[in-house]
Amino acid sequence: VNVERVEIRGGGDRFGRPEAVREVILTPGDTLAVVGPTGSGKSELLSDIEQAAEGDTPSGRRVIVSGGGRRGAFGVVATLSQRTNFLMDVDTASFIDIHAACLGKAGEGTRDAVISLANTLCGEPIRAGDSLQGLSGGQTRALMIADIALVSDAPVILLDELENAGIDKHKALAALSANGKIIVTATHDPVLVLMSRRRLVMRSGGMSGLNEIDAAESLWRDRLRDFDTIFQDVRDALRDGRRLTAETLPCPI
Ligand SMILES: Nc1ncnc2c1ncn2[C@@H]1O[C@H](COP(=O)(O)OP(=O)(O)OP(=O)(O)O)[C@@H](O)[C@H]1O
Ligand SMILES: [Mg+2]
Repeated sequence: VNVERVEIRGGGDRFGRPEAVREVILTPGDTLAVVGPTGSGKSELLSDIEQAAEGDTPSGRRVIVSGGGRRGAFGVVATLSQRTNFLMDVDTASFIDIHAACLGKAGEGTRDAVISLANTLCGEPIRAGDSLQGLSGGQTRALMIADIALVSDAPVILLDELENAGIDKHKALAALSANGKIIVTATHDPVLVLMSRRRLVMRSGGMSGLNEIDAAESLWRDRLRDFDTIFQDVRDALRDGRRLTAETLPCPI
């Protein structure tokens, strides 16, 4: 299955006023960040894309997902939602097997690959026999990301607050970003925002602006990524029970 285009046609904001941004078009390889304060409508926009809204959601938007002679979001959009927990009560290996079989990708290789990818994203490893319900919040998200990357393998990926739950967001994004995918990321994290080519600014439920990263912002992105690495190292050290020392204090970048 391939997708040639996702067209988002503006509807209204929370107060029913027409959105300032009337159209956003995404093509393969495009990355879009969705930014805005809490409650500004980021998740609503992702949900409109996920269901290929036809003016039938609170925003009144229309989203046209097209490619390969077909239309509609079914089977081509994979979502990491903001609230994640599994509803199935099976062990991890069975879940992966069932999902892979549904998509015609069964095989033990898939199962091992998904679990080992998930384990590169989270701290304490997930084992094949662990019950889905017994996984921690971070392990659950790590497993969902690995599943999206390797089993769903959808051409359009929607990520709602990838940064949540203590997983390694850079590794997670790298795992999900294969060539030619369309990736839409709703996030409060400045580094993740700047890793997308464009960003859609939400306000009062409406799409109020669309910005494209420029050379200055690319420098910011690289600099902030370095800071982020420091944060990640310190986080790892503290949660491994190590001490910070004056000698390892990073000099200002
Ligand atoms: N255009 C809109 N028209 C009507 N209601 C909307 C619109 N956009 C969002 N809403 C509603 O506003 C509420 C908050 O929106 P949403 O959950 O999308 O915010 P958010 O930006 O994802 O916030 P957070 O950062 O906390 O996750 C939801 O109930 C949503 O359905
Ligand atoms: Mg949200």
